Amino acid sequence: MIDVAFIGTDVRPASIAVVIDVLRATSTITMALSSGYERVLVAGGIDHARELRAAGQVLAGEVECEMPEGFDLGNSPEETREPKGPELILATTNGAPAIVSASGSCDVVLAASLLNFDAIVAELAQAGGDILLVCAGTNGSITLEDVYLAGRISVALEGDRTDAARVAEAVAASYDKPLDALDASAGSVGLYAAGLDRDIAFCAQESITTAVPRLVSMTDGVPVLEAGAHDAVAPAADSVGAILSSGDS
Ligand code: MLT
Repeated sequence: MIDVAFIGTDVRPASIAVVIDVLRATSTITMALSSGYERVLVAGGIDHARELRAAGQVLAGEVECEMPEGFDLGNSPEETREPKGPELILATTNGAPAIVSASGSCDVVLAASLLNFDAIVAELAQAGGDILLVCAGTNGSITLEDVYLAGRISVALEGDRTDAARVAEAVAASYDKPLDALDASAGSVGLYAAGLDRDIAFCAQESITTAVPRLVSMTDGVPVLEAGAHDAVAPAADSVGAILSSGDS
């Protein structure tokens, strides 16, 4: 059965949970593991991330879209393209808590973004079973870009689906291209306000990597994500520029 939780707090036990925070946490995790970080530790909060930090670890995240004081990186996926160490600790407002929550109640946890869309679909098609697509949402509310991707994944899979999955599929069908859904979403408002337009275009790119972030362990309640063998394909900078310049079409 394919089901959708529309906000992160609606996680229920499932064989496979696929956490989705297109703007930007799961895009950043996908990009980090694709770019050479060996693992991502997902912190439930900013202070927790600061406490977790050990020598050699890179601290990334956001509060209201901006990099928190004392962190090394914000939550822009492109910032992770040059690894600054083997491990990234990530703390964000919605995506990170959704991963923590899913990791506490589901057997298998994956992180999906548009960036690894084909790879996620291939992984889920092979796995089958009880799949819960977990939309992180924005500040406790449903957000369009996550539901859009949940719908795209659902429609690409065979098998029974809940009405929640059908609703997500209908949302996905109403946008011609990913950037249209991302642009129309609540998740993009804060990013535009912070001048992070480029992140929206970056996250709208589809299937640029085959990295599939997966929960490999829980260490003191901290999910540790890694990606298996993958074929990272980093996009040329002007491919993002092209998306940006076509954004009003
Ligand atoms: C989140 O987890 O809330 C997001 O990733 C927000 C952001 O990227 O600014």
